[in-house]
Amino acid sequence: MTLELPGRLTSYAAGGGCACKVPPGELERVLGGLARGRATEDLLVGVENGDDAAVVRIDGGRAVILTTDFFTPVVDDPHDWGRIAAANALSDVYAMGGEPLVAVNLLAWPRETLPFELAAEVLAGGAEVAAEAGCHLAGGHSIDDREPKYGLAVTGLGDPERLLRNDAGRPGLPLTLTKPLGLGILNNRHKATGESFPEAVAVMTALNAEASRAALAAGAACATDITGFGLLGHLFKLCRASGVDAELDAAAVPYVDGARSSLAEGFVPGGSRRNLDWVRDRVDARVDDDELLLLADAQTSGGLLVAGELPGHPVIGHLVARAGEVARISVR
Ligand code: CO
Ligand code: CO
Repeated sequence: MTLELPGRLTSYAAGGGCACKVPPGELERVLGGLARGRATEDLLVGVENGDDAAVVRIDGGRAVILTTDFFTPVVDDPHDWGRIAAANALSDVYAMGGEPLVAVNLLAWPRETLPFELAAEVLAGGAEVAAEAGCHLAGGHSIDDREPKYGLAVTGLGDPERLLRNDAGRPGLPLTLTKPLGLGILNNRHKATGESFPEAVAVMTALNAEASRAALAAGAACATDITGFGLLGHLFKLCRASGVDAELDAAAVPYVDGARSSLAEGFVPGGSRRNLDWVRDRVDARVDDDELLLLADAQTSGGLLVAGELPGHPVIGHLVARAGEVARISVR
C-alpha cells in the first residue's frame, strides 16, 4: 500500500525522539501533592516508589499486574512504530516479573491530516507483538488528536511471592543490563535526518520476556526496565526505593552501533539532557559529560536492569550500602 503523506510520521511528534515522557522531577512534584495510593495488604505495589506497574493480590497465589504506556511516533515506519510501542508497554509487566494476559489499544490520530489506513498499520504492528507475547489484544480506545499517539494498557499475572520490584535491591548484588543503550540518540537522529537504524528497531521491538523469566529463574527479586528516564534515572529510582547506593562501570555498558558517534555529532534528545540534570547532584562521576549523557539517554522499549546475574548479559556495576541520607551513584 502506498500512501501520500504530508511529511514523515516522526515530523508529527513534537518531542525529540525520546518518547516525550514528562520530566522525572516534574512528575514527582505533581504526584507528591496527591493522596498517595499506599500499598495495603492486597495492593502489593502502589505509587510510592514509582515502580513499573501496579500489582494487586487477587487470591493467595496470584497477583494482577496493571500498566499502560503510549507515545508519539519514534520512527517513520508505522508498522515498526506499532511494534515498538507494544513491546514497550508489555515491558512493564515483564519488569515486575509477570506474564501479560490481555491488552487494549490506546490510539490518538489526526484524521484530518494523516490517512486512517496508516493507523491500521500501526495497530497491526502492535497486534503482531502482542501475539508474539502470547497476550490477548482486544479493542481499546481512539480519539482525534493533532499529534498521533499509540500504546497499550496491559493486564498481566504474576506470583505475589516472586515479583521483580524496584525496592528489593540489596548491597552486594551485581547489576545486569539486558539491552544496549543509545536508542534515544538514534531515534533523535532518525527524526532529524530520516536515516534508518535497523539494529535500534530490532532492539526496541524485542520483548523483555526471556530476560524477565531468566531473572526469576536466577532468584532475582529486584528489577526495572530502562525507558524514558535513562539508565541513570531508573537506577537512581531503584537505589532510592531500595535504600542503597550503586557503583556503575561505564566501560561495561553496551551501546547500539552508532550511538556514540551520533552523540558526538550533536544528536541528543532534550529528554536525555533533562534526565542528566535530574540526577546530576546524586552522581559522583569519574567520566566526562558525554559519557554521562550516554548513560542518561532516554530509552524507548529498553532492556531490564536486574539486581542479579543473568547468563548472556553484561554486569555493569553493583549495589552497595547506602553511605548518606540520599541515594548516590558513582560512575567510573
Ligand atoms: Co517501566
Ligand atoms: Co512505563
